Parts: sequence; structure tokens; C-alpha cells
Amino acid sequence: MPVTNLTNPLTLRSQSDLNNPYPLFSTLRTQEPVWWCETSKAWIVSTYAEAQNILRSSDFEKQIQKWKHSPTASWAGFFPPFKALRDTSSSWLLNLNPPDHTRVRSLIGRTFAPSTINGLKPEIEKVAKELILIAKEKGEIDLVADFAFPLPLAIIALIMGIPVSDRDLLKQWSGKLVAVAGGNRSVPALWNSGSAIIELQKYLTPMIEERRKDLKDDMLSMLISAEEEGSRLNTAELLSNLILFLVAGHETTVNLISNAVLVLLQHPAELMKLKENPELTSSAVSEVLRYESPVQAAPRLANKDVVVAGKTIKEGDMVWLLLGSANRDTNQFEAADVFDIKRTNIRHISFSEGIHRCIGASLAETECEIALTSLFSSFPNLSLAEQNIDFKFPMALRGPKRLLVKVG
Ligand code: HEM
Repeated sequence: MPVTNLTNPLTLRSQSDLNNPYPLFSTLRTQEPVWWCETSKAWIVSTYAEAQNILRSSDFEKQIQKWKHSPTASWAGFFPPFKALRDTSSSWLLNLNPPDHTRVRSLIGRTFAPSTINGLKPEIEKVAKELILIAKEKGEIDLVADFAFPLPLAIIALIMGIPVSDRDLLKQWSGKLVAVAGGNRSVPALWNSGSAIIELQKYLTPMIEERRKDLKDDMLSMLISAEEEGSRLNTAELLSNLILFLVAGHETTVNLISNAVLVLLQHPAELMKLKENPELTSSAVSEVLRYESPVQAAPRLANKDVVVAGKTIKEGDMVWLLLGSANRDTNQFEAADVFDIKRTNIRHISFSEGIHRCIGASLAETECEIALTSLFSSFPNLSLAEQNIDFKFPMALRGPKRLLVKVG
């Protein structure tokens, strides 16, 4: 018998559910690991093994904008913001299928290679230092707005070739795009995202044309000149993927840094271990990614009828993989609800799996490692200034709304 009284995790609204969705995830894993959710007209997959298999399978694909229930589909032709959103997002690397995905990924991939990311470390450390100086003067800060938000924004600005003087513009665009990144399908949220895309296109197009004529030693020039078997990114592809970096790489990293500081402050014994053994920083970041996954859900469309855990998923059906639930699956992780920075072999799926595995994973991890090292070495007594922490809506992008901390 299908279970009908389950709560839809994708549309959680109550603050207490957003703060702690894990009991619901546990119920889903035990009762209906592959659940047809009528209100979202989609399958919800909550267990590690099933989520991982689907992410790795070629029976499930992207181009989710083709989904028959897509809310913008019928209006897209009439209103410029909806059209911009549809056209741009359909050419994002994130939404391409092979062979287009293979070609574009290999052209973009080099810019995010470990050697390039290593070269960014001094710049990330410099930005962290500047933010720490400001925090020192204030004594108490909102770690989300005053540290976790500006740090990755500055680095994405660098990748996009946007000068420091225009960072406030980037901040506004990021704010408008975050809704669509988190799966907020409300009409105003989609309209705002589409408008931000139009503004970004107007801003970035002349910049790319300029840079094409005068290549420099920076990441934008690397993207422009990337070439593979005679193929290059054209201006439209470049534009849409620069916008994707802002959509896919900003709020996610804000949440990773915020979650990391929050969870460590809530687990003083783990924080102490980290302070005494700084070489654990990288595994602490992995454990944060598992324990409080910044991206909680990833979508796929079935491209044929497929049976998963006894359920028939029909061709064209939407499937949401609950990454945050998979990462708490006790069939995969011993004591999955325990935060343990010494946990070994943390094979979380927070960056997804398969061909769409996050291209910015090592950038995000590096930023978070530098953030933690800089914060806890500069502020050994860092502490929470308020204990009740509310998490953001929508559930798909998980992070605290604000995090007041005392730095002294
Ligand atoms: C903690 C930070 C981050 C998390 C948790 C995260 C998570 C993810 C996830 C889950 C996916 C795959 C979605 C799917 O399979 O449907 C993805 C893809 C992607 N991410 Fe990230 N991301 C983060 C940071 C970044 C950064 C910093 C960038 C770049 C500036 C970035 C750029 C991308 C791109 C371009 C893709 C598409 C890859 C592809 O489709 O081949 N991400 N990310």
C-alpha cells in the first residue's frame, strides 16, 4: 500500500521543519525510499544507494526545463525575464546532456583544475584577512552576512573578471538568482532571476568582447581561450556559464562556510580536536558537507521507464534525489546522525555524482578550509551570540539565515 500521509520535503515551510528536516528524511528512508509525491508531481528518492545509482545512471538526464509540469514553459515566449531564464539555463553546463555536456565540461574543466585553484589560495586568504579585520573592530558579527557571503562572492567576481568596484552589483544579482538556485518556483522568484540574467548579460557581453581582444593572465581569459580539439566556447556559452558560476557557486559556498562554523561551535569537543590538530581541517570540511549538506536536493528526468526499489519511474517523470538524506543514511554511514570530524572514508554525495559532479568542489572546499583556519586562529574564543538558529527557505539550499557570533 502506498503511504499517503508523508510530508513533501521539497516544500517545507514551517520553521521547525526547516531547522530540522532529518526526522522526516528518516521516515521517508524507512517507509518510502522512492516515493511518488503528488503535490510536487515528482518522485522523491531519500536513500544513499538509490540516489547514487540514479546520479550515475544514463537512464536519467538533465534538461529538466523540458519537464511537462515546468511552470515557465507556456509563458516563456511572452515575457523577457522568463525567456531569458529558460534560454540561459538550458545552456548551462549543469543542464546539458552528452555529447554537449562532454564538450563544454572539458573546455571549462581546466579553469577549475586543482593547480588553478591552488593559485587562488593567496587571494582567498587575503579576502579572509580583510573580513577578519573588519570583524575584529565590530566585536560581534553576523557570520553569514559579514564573512561567509562576501568571501566566495569576491572569488567568483575574480573568476568572472568583475572589478572590486562593481561587487555590489554582483551582490544584488546573486540575491535575485538565489531563488532559482534553491528551487523556489514562485512566479516573483522566477521573474527576479530572469531579470538578473538580462542585466548580467548586458554587463558581461562588452567585457567578454574586450577581453577577447586583450587576453590577460586570469581565469576569464583562460575560459575564453580554452580550446579542445578545435572547439571553443562561443560568447553565448561563455555568458551563460559565467552566470551559472554565480548561481551554482555562491549561495552553496556561503552555506558551507556558515554550516561549518555553526556545527563546530555546537560541537565543542570536535572543535577542540580541530584546534589541536589543524591537519584535520580537510576531513572536518568533508564531515560538514555530509552532516549539513549545503545542497539538499538534485533533480533528474527519466529518459525511459526504469524500476527503482520496486517502483516504476516512467519516461519523462521528474525525480528529486535528497542528497542531505542520503548523507544521513545509516545503511551507508555508521552513526550517521553523529558529527565526527575524524570519520574516515566520508563518501558523501553533497557534490552529486557521475558526469554532473560539481566542477567547483575543490574551490568550495579550499575556501571553507581557509575560512575555518583564518577564523579559529584569529578568534580562538569565537562563540555563538544566540542559540536559536533558523535555517533558510527553501529547504534545497541549507544554511542558517543569520549567525550572530562574538569574536572576542
Ligand atoms: C559548497 C559548495 C558547493 C556545493 C555543495 C555544490 C553542489 C553542486 C551539486 C550538487 C552539483 C550537481 C547537481 C546535479 O547533479 O544536479 C553541482 C554542479 C555544479 N557546480 Fe557546484 N557546488 C558548490 C560550489 C560550486 C562552486 C564554487 C562552483 C563554481 C564557481 C560550482 C559550479 C558548479 C557547476 C558549473 C556545476 C555543473 C557541473 C556539471 O553539470 O557538469 N559549484 N554543484
